[in-house]
Amino acid sequence: MYRTHTCGELTASDKGKTVTLSGWVHRRRDHGGVIFIDLRDRYGLTQVVFDPEFDKKSWEAAEKIRPEFVLKVTGGVRNRIKGQENRNMKTGDIEVYINQIEILNESKTPPFEIDQEKPVGEELRLKYRYLDLRHDRMRDNLVLRHKMIKEIRDFLDKDGFVEVETPILIKGTPEGSREYLVPSRLYPGKFFVLPQSPQQLKQLLMIAGMDKYFQIARCFRDEDQRGDRQPEFTQLDLEMSFAEEKDVMAINEKLFINLTRKFAPTKQIKENPFPIFTWHEAMNRFGSDKPDLRFNMELTDVSDVVEKSDFKVFSGTVEAGGVVKALKVKGVADWSRSELDKLEELAKVYGAKGLAYLVYKKEGIKSPILKFLSDEIAEGVTKATGAKTGDIVFFAADQFTTACDVLGQVRLYCGEKLGLMDPNVFSYCWVNEFPLFEFEKETGQLAAMHHPFTRPMDEDRELLERDPVKARAIAYDIILNGNEIGGGSIRIHEHKLQQQIFEILKISPQDAEARFGHILEAFRYGAPPHGGIAWGLDRLIMLFADEPNIREVIAFPKDQKAKDLTLGAPSEMPEKDIKEANIQILHKK
Ligand code: AMO
Ligand code: AMP
Repeated sequence: MYRTHTCGELTASDKGKTVTLSGWVHRRRDHGGVIFIDLRDRYGLTQVVFDPEFDKKSWEAAEKIRPEFVLKVTGGVRNRIKGQENRNMKTGDIEVYINQIEILNESKTPPFEIDQEKPVGEELRLKYRYLDLRHDRMRDNLVLRHKMIKEIRDFLDKDGFVEVETPILIKGTPEGSREYLVPSRLYPGKFFVLPQSPQQLKQLLMIAGMDKYFQIARCFRDEDQRGDRQPEFTQLDLEMSFAEEKDVMAINEKLFINLTRKFAPTKQIKENPFPIFTWHEAMNRFGSDKPDLRFNMELTDVSDVVEKSDFKVFSGTVEAGGVVKALKVKGVADWSRSELDKLEELAKVYGAKGLAYLVYKKEGIKSPILKFLSDEIAEGVTKATGAKTGDIVFFAADQFTTACDVLGQVRLYCGEKLGLMDPNVFSYCWVNEFPLFEFEKETGQLAAMHHPFTRPMDEDRELLERDPVKARAIAYDIILNGNEIGGGSIRIHEHKLQQQIFEILKISPQDAEARFGHILEAFRYGAPPHGGIAWGLDRLIMLFADEPNIREVIAFPKDQKAKDLTLGAPSEMPEKDIKEANIQILHKK
């Protein structure tokens, strides 16, 4: 028998018991002949004592022990000496006097310390992930992940949802990212595709009459890496029949609140029920379709105020159908010129042509553009933004989306710099009424903003033919503290409407048939009205765990270059395997 108890279990009430523990050597201290070891397992630490006067043989063995050795020890539970108790640990009142020890395994010196967390390069952490996961914080993150997912399953089960597994080897699905391909050995020249999401399959399940489906689903997207993205990530994927937007929102909102109360009880939910903003309102007021509402700074539209100004950047933009947006930031009039230049650089990254500003000094407004603004216009801006001495007002003149985006980023930068984002607040909101289509940045082509199965709003149906870019979708995102933690929509369930959308997207009937023939056909067999959502579970857990990126809540994540450093993937394959997969390597980097 390896153990009678775990290392996180014994308390003063176990005094006098003979116990056996197994675990890792967390820390070893030599106190003038007596050796103290903190023995660690997943459940905690227990102090075990090797006293030469108590048991010489064990003490001699303990002398050879190094950190991360694996031990089995047996001894008697005693109260710690008065004053030596450790109130921070569950086992802090006791220690175990050892009279039997077995070294189950030795350990090389780890490449980084386990008993404390010091800054270590992520490359090293990922290469030795199994050691990194020995850190309390990482263990806690994985346990939290497990518990949250279990809660989600239990909650949805109680509400009548059925978890259905959908395949990983599928056909391409248009979720907007590049896909991972899997060559078929049996059918040379043909490929499976890894799912970007189970989107089409869950819709087929609705047609099958499953009514309420969910899945903790692995998704694969071959896209550039960022802190909140992984090539392989996990969704809570969910779909409901005979449901409207408000039905999907209601059940999800209930689940979010339930999870927050259970797993982030110290976070204050800022607004409950969650506020709902249309895409236009979110952009217009916060400069983002995923607004961080932990702080209140809002954008103002000053197009009317400045359209007649001599500053051509402003008047010209309004004349060309664009807008001039302003953002007042309180109490920053003392920011240096170089600070303002830095902000302008940031704005340019997000497409700004410049970042004009007015600085409200005690002696009056200072600004390189003041000479172009009449007193009346300057006053108009002051009034519209409510600016006071000590503030700065920033401007973006551009097309609506760009102008909002730019100031939205400036807003976030300032909010962060001024410490306005309360770490104890969870600010959820919904954003809905997204545009149905958008122009793709690279190709300039019209594309579905969410995905092509998303339903247009009823009142915008007539726009599909006349001016599809203006049509809005019954699509919604759920936002937490400025992070898009989920997105979904009500779907098209009519064959004809789906075909019309493919036409608008310039997917030819032949192409539509080849790519989506299966779902178009399915729509002809009594598809019920349906809709759903998918959460980015990694992102959600990251926020619950107060972690800065999703890699911290994934056991074996890819690195920022999309590599698996733990296993060393992707890797080369034997010539024979490549041949069998009917693949020819054209060039190697
Ligand atoms: P969408 O593409 O918006 O919708 O994805 C849903 C949520 O998944 C998360 N997410 C990611 N998380 C980590 N790494 C990534 N690369 C990544 N990409 C997305 C985000 C996002 O909100 N089928 C639709 C859902 C539906 O319509 O029901 C879909 O996949 O948090
Ligand atoms: P310029 O006349 O181009 O030197 O610009 C004067 C000021 O206006 C500078 O501070 C620019 O950053 C700013 N600016 C230029 N274009 C824009 C724009 N489209 N929106 C907001 N500010 C701008």
